[in-house]
Amino acid sequence: MSAMECKELCSLAGKSAVVTGGAMGIGFGIVKRFVEAGASVLLADVDGKAAEAAAARLSGRIVPLAVDVGSDTAADTIVARCVESFGGLDILVNNAGIFPTVPLLQMPPELFDRVLRINLRGLVLLSKAAGLQMVKQGRGGKIINIGSIDSLRPSTVGLAAYDTSKGGVLMFTRSLALEMAPHAVQVNAILPGGITTEGTAHPLEGMTESQTKEMLEAFTRKIPLGHMGVPDDIAKVALFLASPMSDYMTGAHVVVDGGALLV
Ligand SMILES: NC(=O)c1ccc[n+]([C@@H]2O[C@H](COP(=O)([O-])OP(=O)(O)OC[C@H]3O[C@@H](n4cnc5c(N)ncnc54)[C@H](O)[C@@H]3O)[C@@H](O)[C@H]2O)c1
Repeated sequence: MSAMECKELCSLAGKSAVVTGGAMGIGFGIVKRFVEAGASVLLADVDGKAAEAAAARLSGRIVPLAVDVGSDTAADTIVARCVESFGGLDILVNNAGIFPTVPLLQMPPELFDRVLRINLRGLVLLSKAAGLQMVKQGRGGKIINIGSIDSLRPSTVGLAAYDTSKGGVLMFTRSLALEMAPHAVQVNAILPGGITTEGTAHPLEGMTESQTKEMLEAFTRKIPLGHMGVPDDIAKVALFLASPMSDYMTGAHVVVDGGALLV
């Protein structure tokens, strides 16, 4: 087999992708890089207005879709819309996620259910629907799950539900990678550390503005590279995992945290 040239290795030309939570933050960063690399992108987000505004900011084949990944119908709706819009589905990025901060001893059961429903159940069911479509197409595919450094180690008190969901994301990634390998569908995870996004710029759910500021400052002080990341730090790794650059990787995770897990 002849080696691909660099330009071709990074190209997503002719590929169709779904990015959940694509209207802002890390998701929007990924949409931008995918479009730049030539992919057609279904930008799925619970905030329909933000999804439309995000799509309008970029030029390329981008279809916004208002959908809550935690709903029972989301997975089929997203896959059907992608196939209808672009003729298939080659790349899925499960990025949508929420991070309310409430210590377990004060946590209402509904909060646990909501976090698990969006961060884990939604990701699992969409991976299933996308996986079925990829198997049907018979040309392989790439599934990229956005976990967190909290998939490996709790970073702060109050994230018990979140950490449980993100630990699940990592184990699900490995399990699905094994199941999908015979179909040439690669399944990998990115585990971001602290990334400045719309979601971390506002007071975190369950915290006041000053508590959020204090927590983020304390977190940033401990990052060996000395600063928070930006969405493009994650988007570049997502492009790597979506492109032929990573064709022999599956069931793997890439930590992108400025060294936070080292200390
Ligand atoms: N920012 C960080 O520091 C950080 C660190 C580790 C992991 N992550 C993970 O990265 C992902 C994105 O985080 P972010 O900081 O960009 O978040 P964000 O809050 O800035 O953006 C999240 C996007 O997802 C959408 N969304 C939320 N719930 C949804 C739902 N039920 N269905 C569809 N869309 C939904 C929001 O409308 C928004 O557009 C999350 O899974 C998060 O857990 C973020």
